Amino acid sequence: MVYHMAGVQLTKVKGLPMKKFIIFLFGAVLLNAREFIGKVPLVESAKEVHFTGSHLNSPELLHNILHYQAWGELFVYFQVHWFRLLFGAVSIAVLVIFLLHYLVIGPKVFSHEGRKFYIFSLFQRVIHWIAALSFIIIVPTGFMIVFGKYLGGGDLVLNARYLHDIGAVIFLVSVIPMFLMWLIPMLPTIDDIKWLFIAGGYLTKKKIEVPAGKFNAGQKLWFWLATLGGFVMILSGAVMYFQDFDITLLKSLNLDQIDIDRIAAIVHNFLGVAIAALFITHLYMSVFAIKGSLDSMKSGYKSEDELKHLHSSFYKKLIGKK
Ligand code: HEM
Repeated sequence: MVYHMAGVQLTKVKGLPMKKFIIFLFGAVLLNAREFIGKVPLVESAKEVHFTGSHLNSPELLHNILHYQAWGELFVYFQVHWFRLLFGAVSIAVLVIFLLHYLVIGPKVFSHEGRKFYIFSLFQRVIHWIAALSFIIIVPTGFMIVFGKYLGGGDLVLNARYLHDIGAVIFLVSVIPMFLMWLIPMLPTIDDIKWLFIAGGYLTKKKIEVPAGKFNAGQKLWFWLATLGGFVMILSGAVMYFQDFDITLLKSLNLDQIDIDRIAAIVHNFLGVAIAALFITHLYMSVFAIKGSLDSMKSGYKSEDELKHLHSSFYKKLIGKK
């Protein structure tokens, strides 16, 4: 099949329907963006920007915003057409896929009798609980902000925003220790490629021995997105929260203060969609797909049956050591 993306003809795209779908979605975004930029009758560009101390909270505010530039148009375009759609469509798609998975394939049940292995230390569990608490606040309030228009706006959405900020501070406490404590076992290995080829064994009802170390490829993907992506979320969130910077470097790049806020908002929203989707996935896996998985989050112990099947390489090493 031949695709056209932003005027460029792409060659044949073979492979999974999902791959085609992602290419199509990406192409559609680019095509629409190209159509949109430069054609929106927003405000006229000012020739120069006046700074009087504060760039945003000053009597010159409007004048500064008049310096509209493509970032403003791009931001409005995404804001009007894509952010809500993506948040809604991606989260509904993820929920439907997991509902189908639960109904058709069903959860994996492992025996919790017999030997147990101590996997997560108390420190790791405390950090993980802090991160979990923060996301339980951040994700729903994030959705409330995105869909605030349909909630009537006002105090409800404003309070959701305050809570979202509090959640972000709680997450900030956990993100660096989490990154450091799991960094080494989260590095990629050959097992990850094998794991991806069999989709982690999640597409079969059978209990098979899946190639994985202490963490599998899916868990690693979540780790990197949650920690590095989480860090970018904090950074872009902070830019939007504090707003008013006087960064001389920006001016040399022909970027305005307000452009940085727009870029931060674009990054925060797109990355937010990906993190929310994987967070829902993480919850589904821990609470529904693998029965009893939550035990390790509480006690630090995993059952031999679970380790043998879901982390077979790690299990062999453990047994070897014993
Ligand atoms: C209510 C929220 C959460 C629940 C119920 C939950 C549950 C769990 C469980 C049961 C495990 C152990 C999985 C296993 O190895 O069998 C786990 C691991 C992990 N969790 Fe969470 N978690 C939550 C939130 C979070 C958050 C917010 C983050 C990151 C910001 C996170 C990051 C991780 C990572 C990196 C691991 C190790 C790899 C993995 O198992 O995915 N979790 N979680």
